[in-house]
Amino acid sequence: MWLGRGAARVHVLKDVDLAIDRGEAVGLVGPSGSGKSTLLMVMAGLEKADSGRVEVAGENLMDLGEDALARFRGRHIGIVFQSFHLIPTMTALENVAVPLELAGIADAFDRARQELATVGLSDRLGHYPAQLSGGEQQRVALARALAPNPPILVADEPTGNLDEGTGAAIAELLFEQQRERGATLIVVTHDLALARRCDRTVRIRSGRIEAEAGALAPA
Ligand SMILES: Nc1ncnc2c1ncn2[C@@H]1O[C@H](COP(=O)(O)OP(=O)(O)O)[C@@H](O)[C@H]1O
Ligand SMILES: [Mg+2]
Repeated sequence: MWLGRGAARVHVLKDVDLAIDRGEAVGLVGPSGSGKSTLLMVMAGLEKADSGRVEVAGENLMDLGEDALARFRGRHIGIVFQSFHLIPTMTALENVAVPLELAGIADAFDRARQELATVGLSDRLGHYPAQLSGGEQQRVALARALAPNPPILVADEPTGNLDEGTGAAIAELLFEQQRERGATLIVVTHDLALARRCDRTVRIRSGRIEAEAGALAPA
C-alpha cells in the first residue's frame, strides 16, 4: 500500500498477509513508522489499500465505496485512538450518545449513560473533555467505541498518552470489555504490559510482518 503524493509517496505496507480469528486479541508491535497505524486503519476500513484483499466479517472492504465503508464501520468496528479524539464542545455524555443517535438508536442517551457507568464515569457525565484528565478522556472514548457493541475493537496506542498507572487501568477495562462482549481486539502498542495481555503479537518492520508470536511471557 502506498501513501502520499509525488515525491512524498511512500510504500507503507508490503505483502502483508494476516488472518485474525473472531474473539482474538492481537497486538501489533514494531518501531515507529513501520506501518502499524496504517495497517490498523486498513483493517478498520478507515484507509483503503491500493491492492489486495481486506476481508472483514465476510465483506471485502476493497469492494465498498465511502458510504458503504462508513456504514460497515458503524456496524462492526469500535475505534480508540491515542489522543482520544473527543469532540471538545460536547459533554462526556454527548460524546457517547450523539454518535448513537446519529446511528438511529432510540435510547441513545440511556445507552450512553450505561456505557459511561461501565467505564466508571457516572459522576462525570456533564464534564467537557477539557475538564477531564487524560485517563478520563480515554474512558469516554472507550465508552463511545463500546456503545454500539461492535464485534471488532481496534485501538491505536490507547495508553500512549497516559502515565503507567492510568494506562494500566485503561488496558484492564479494554481487555475486560473485550472478553465480556466476546469482541475481537486489535491493538497497536509500544506498551509491553498491554502487548503481554494479547493472545498473539504481530511484529511489523518497514511495512512487512517480521514475526508472529503467541502470547508473550509475563514479566
Ligand atoms: N498520509 C501519508 N502520506 C505519506 N506518508 C505517510 C502517510 N501516513 C503515513 N505515512 C508514512 O507511512 C509510514 C508508516 O506510518 P504509520 O503507519 O503511521 O507507522 P507507525 O504507526 O508504525 O508508527 C511512515 O513512514 C509514515 O511517514
Ligand atoms: Mg502509529
